[in-house]
Amino acid sequence: MGLSTQHLVDLLRAAGEPTRLRILGLLAREELAVMEITQILDQSQPRVSRHLKLLTEAGLIERFPDGAWMFYRLADRGPRRRLLEEALRLVPADDPVFARDADRLQAVRAERSDEATAYFERNAARWDELRSLHVSEGDVEAAILDAAGPGPFRRMIDLGTGSGRMLALLCNRAEEGLGLDLSQQMLNIARRRATEAGLERCQLRHGDIFATQLPTASADLVVVHQVLHYLSDPAAAVAEAARLVEPGGRLLIADFAPHRLEFLREAHQHRRLGFADAEIERWFDGAGLQPLSTAALPPADDQGLTVKIWTATREASPQGALQ
Ligand SMILES: C[S@@+](CC[C@H](N)C(=O)[O-])C[C@H]1O[C@@H](n2cnc3c(N)ncnc32)[C@H](O)[C@@H]1O
Repeated sequence: MGLSTQHLVDLLRAAGEPTRLRILGLLAREELAVMEITQILDQSQPRVSRHLKLLTEAGLIERFPDGAWMFYRLADRGPRRRLLEEALRLVPADDPVFARDADRLQAVRAERSDEATAYFERNAARWDELRSLHVSEGDVEAAILDAAGPGPFRRMIDLGTGSGRMLALLCNRAEEGLGLDLSQQMLNIARRRATEAGLERCQLRHGDIFATQLPTASADLVVVHQVLHYLSDPAAAVAEAARLVEPGGRLLIADFAPHRLEFLREAHQHRRLGFADAEIERWFDGAGLQPLSTAALPPADDQGLTVKIWTATREASPQGALQ
């Protein structure tokens, strides 16, 4: 559907200001928290917030709360998004202000990912103990087995495998398994576990969930268990995970429902405080997957978090064809 002339004028007016165009340029790269945008633009928070408000009112961007933080992202699809993408394509590649913003975004990202990597390297040995702080492990494992289905699977891929728990849980339903992780320390532990448990059909590899380098449609079960909330761009991770799912295959994501335990950001490097069903479903849809089931596991105690398990499939029809 097109836009009315007045609507188009309003959108151009909202985007037609240097700082606002820079904000749009940043959000075209990834969703960001207000304080990150402020840090990158090096402008006062009230000023940045005014620009964000205008862009939100024009429908060019969306805001969404995550605990006490407020995040922003580009509005989803449709003519507004196309207009923005076209406008941003016309920004010269060597524009010094946009180039500096991109460098600063990269620095913010690197800082985040260094902190998270250091956290996992530091805590690899006690990961199993840390992991079970907020949830009943047995219940989650039973629900994951249920959501994955009996198989047998030809090939399962576990992204952000950590100490390899999902491989250990599901590998006997698959002919072969592959666990990928960014942390060498985590991989060392996963390798030891795999050997001890005799998981001969499982391989462990160093790799990044954002760019796995694995072939498209190469697995019939892809698992992303308790990884998304650490990531700078969970939508991109879901898209990459979905790319690996072959027609008829299944993607299983386990993570937290939205919560308010702010201390987890500092103490355990969580970036996002859980995910709403609608957000995950939108990412599934964007990746050409069809939702299959959603399970919710309430916390074991009143300090705890609700674990969600979302599954989706790539239908073996043209609708679910890989884009
Ligand atoms: C909370 S642990 C979960 C591990 C495992 N899935 C489990 O449930 O026990 C998150 C894991 O994601 C890994 N990770 C974080 N960012 C990653 C990335 N960009 N690519 C691959 N792995 C990543 C971390 O190194 C860590 O091992």
